[in-house]
Amino acid sequence: MERTLSIVKPDGVSKNLIGEVIKRFEENGLKVVGLKMISMDKKEAEGFYAVHRGKPFFESLTTFMSSGPSVVMVLEGEGAISKTRELMGATDPKQAKEGTLRCQFATNIERNVVHGSDGPETAAFEIGYFFNALEIFSP
Ligand code: CMP
Repeated sequence: MERTLSIVKPDGVSKNLIGEVIKRFEENGLKVVGLKMISMDKKEAEGFYAVHRGKPFFESLTTFMSSGPSVVMVLEGEGAISKTRELMGATDPKQAKEGTLRCQFATNIERNVVHGSDGPETAAFEIGYFFNALEIFSP
């Protein structure tokens, strides 16, 4: 069993896509084992995306991610990391396969509705960034 961290980003929340994103994950065998709505401030968004510090999109990305509430969740299942990424589609919605969340709902590469961890180490860091052990409910 693998765990990953997903976020319905502020654009997804304002477009009423929280349910749609969770439904897509659940229908595809992923279990939501942790869930909360948060509003990141700029520093928290910068900490979350620290690996991207220095990149040209860092300032804009962290401003956007601190512009309103997000829903963060821990997903569990076999191959949870790759399954989540497959359901989201490519980061840039122009490259995302038809039927994926980003192809259907994203506005652009920044406002791309949903985030998912890109590997086991990132997942461990990202889950720990938002959740403590008592907030994860695994059978
Ligand atoms: P996410 O999966 O949350 O991981 C990092 C985010 O940075 C990514 O989704 C995009 O929203 C954003 N991002 C990545 N590349 C670019 C880019 N070239 N321009 C703007 N935003 C980007």
